[in-house]
Formats: sequence, structure tokens, C-alpha cells
Amino acid sequence: MDRKEEALKLLDANWTGRFTKPSPNLYPHQWNWDAGFIALGNAQHDLSRVITEYRSLFAGQWSNGLLPHIVFGPPTGHYFPEQDFWQSDRSTFSPKNVQTSGITQPPVHGFILKRIYDKHSEDSDFIAFLKEIFPKLVKLHEYYYRDRNPLRNGLITIRHPWESGTDNSPIWDEALSAMQIDKDALPDFKRKDLQNPKAAGHRPTHEDYDRYVYLVDLFRRLDYDEEKINEQCPFQIVDPLFNAILTWSNEAIITLGDILQMDYGELIYWNEQTIYSMNELLWDEQAGIYHAWDAVESKKIEVHTHSGLMPMIGGIPDVDQVEQMIRRMTGPNFKNDETYYLPSYNLSQSDIDHEKYWRGPIWISTNWLIIQGLNRYGFDELADEVFQDTIELIHQFGFYEYFDPRRNVRNNGYGTNQFSWSASLYLDMLN
Ligand code: GLC
Repeated sequence: MDRKEEALKLLDANWTGRFTKPSPNLYPHQWNWDAGFIALGNAQHDLSRVITEYRSLFAGQWSNGLLPHIVFGPPTGHYFPEQDFWQSDRSTFSPKNVQTSGITQPPVHGFILKRIYDKHSEDSDFIAFLKEIFPKLVKLHEYYYRDRNPLRNGLITIRHPWESGTDNSPIWDEALSAMQIDKDALPDFKRKDLQNPKAAGHRPTHEDYDRYVYLVDLFRRLDYDEEKINEQCPFQIVDPLFNAILTWSNEAIITLGDILQMDYGELIYWNEQTIYSMNELLWDEQAGIYHAWDAVESKKIEVHTHSGLMPMIGGIPDVDQVEQMIRRMTGPNFKNDETYYLPSYNLSQSDIDHEKYWRGPIWISTNWLIIQGLNRYGFDELADEVFQDTIELIHQFGFYEYFDPRRNVRNNGYGTNQFSWSASLYLDMLN
């Protein structure tokens, strides 16, 4: 069986009839940005599945616009934290007939639906679906600008590492360790992500998990009240990856709104604010990369990861900035003769861990994103190099969750090898 057939089979195997699981065992529910990346693969062969997947995700949208990071299927007992732990019914905004988490994830859906539209603009069922989903997309972006914009400058904050999608990125280390946690006051919990002994070593630490749980417990104690959370949450960070994704989706929503002749409110104005503020506050001229911002401490987080290169996708840097970013990306921090593109963390940092999740390994989603960013600015040769590396990793090792950036490592796929977005983005890239 060739890899393409394998990818299709994998997506079928992880399909539940309502949504696609990111992987059969480790991630048994519907995840927000995974659903978007998965839709790109399914759009190659089954648009009705894309529509069903999206309807399921947006059935979990809260009435204030928040789109949760997980929409739960039936409880499985082998994932933590499942629906019971979130207690999202404490919020007056959560849907009453669908169970969800109470935090969000990067808003990829604007640009993903636009990409699908570009290939299926004649499909009347898809157009009807787009018209149905469009006001919900706008509502999601309105939520960010209303409730997650504490400096009122268009920079959106995340309030939990899981909201970033890059769960244990070194960007969060300092803010997490500054959090004073009374371990005895934490609710009881048991991790379920350590069953696979090999993968267990790559996962976030127990100290990380204590903090993840502390934050969820804080949100539920505050009944998910946005104002109170903004006052009390010790973790509020402007992440360049999240804001880059938001910007690209803003742009796509504006274009789709013009095509469909539907209302997108203040989005043009807000998007300009985000782009302006990212360049004002997050751009590091010397390093040629965007950094994150700690909105609680009002200070830069000068930890450079692949997330700092992602603003290319949203057209945030000008061409001079992109040239600097490319020097950074092709230099020893992110590339050498022995590595593949694009490691999640700076290769020359002493605390890089090539095997550990978002602290060194390559992910197919972020490779896919950087390819789009490079193409946007016409750096097609470099985009092609990233593409070739990505395809080589999948051809050699399979649909792993994350990959070792070092070429001389024998089995360099890690985590689950039935990871849906690795399969779906592979299909998208080959098309
Ligand atoms: C992990 C990843 C996150 C992803 C989720 C489901 O938590 O860090 O980005 O959405 O798994 O695949």
C-alpha cells in the first residue's frame, strides 16, 4: 500500500461518523485545530465529511463565541481531562447539549475554509454550508477581540498552554514556574497520557501538569467568567503563532465575506491593529524573529521557537523582515547539514530536547504552515526544501505525531503513528 492509500485508510479508521479523532487511543475526542487540519485532507475526497466534522465542532461553540479546544465524544476513561473535569456547565455561555472544554485553540478555520472554497467554489452544498458557518466564524473572532484583547491593541492572549496548541513549548516555562501552586489545594487527578512507555518520556512533566490543572480549576471556580479570569489568571501570554494564525484567518474571513456578501463587522480594523501591534511589540529586529509577550508581567519572552517565524503566514512582516527571518531560519538556530526542517525549538539552545514534543521535534502542522508563509512571499525554493523534508519524513517513518529533527537518528517518528493531521496534511501537500 502506498502512503497515500495509507493516509486515506488512517483517516477512515479515526473517523467516528461525527468527527475525526486526532489518534485512536491518545486523543479520542474532537480537537479544535486538529479538526481544521483534518478537514484539508478529507476535502480531497469527501466534502460531506468535512461539513459533518465542522458542524460537530461548531455545535460546541459557546454563546459568547468561544470555540472550545475539545468537543467531547462519549467519555472513554482513557483521556484526562474529560468532560466531567471541565464542569463547563458552570458557564452561562456553554452549550447545554454538547460537552466541551472551557478553553480555546488557534483559530485556523478561516484560512482552512477559504482554502477548501478555492478548490470547490462551484459546489453548491459547500457554499450553502459556508453561509451557515460564516456568522459563527465571525462570532469567534469577535470573542477574541472583545474578551482576549487585554491591552486593547489587537494582541490576543492565551490563558492556558493548551490554548496555544504547542502545549509544552519552552516559551511558557518562565511564566509557569513563576506560578505559586499549593499542591494540596489542587483537585485530585490522574494523568492518562503516560501509558505508552516510549512516548511517556516525551510528554510534559508532572510540574507542568500541576499547573495545567491549577489553571483549569481556577477557570471553573470562576464559573468561566471572562472578566474575573482576566483579572486573576496568572498566565496570559501573547503567542506569535496564535496571533499569526488569527491574522491569516481574519484575512480569509474578510475575503470570504466579500465573496458571499456577508457581514464581518469590524474585522478589517481589528486585523490592522493586530498586524501593527505585532510589529511594534513582538518583532525583534536584532534576532530577526518575533517573540512572545507576557501580558501579566508586561515583558517580552525572549525564547525563540519556530512560532516566532510563523507571522509570515498572516502577511505580518514586510519583505525586509522576511529576509531577516529567512536568514534566521536557514542559519544554525533552525538548520544544519544533519537536520530536517523545521525544528520546534532553537537547535543551539542547551535545553533543546530533540525527542520531546514541542521542545525540539518537527510537527507536520507547523511545517505545513511555514511552507504557506514562504510561498506567500515568493520564497518558493525554500518552501520546496521544507516540503521535501516533510515528505521524506513521512515516506521513511509514517504518520507519526512528531519527528526527530536529526537525520542520523534511526527511528525518528515519535508519539502515536496514527496521527490524523500528519495524514491529512500529507494529502493536502501532495495535491
Ligand atoms: C496535543 C497537541 C495539540 C493537539 C492535541 C490533539 O495536545 O499539543 O496541539 O491539538 O494533542 O492532537
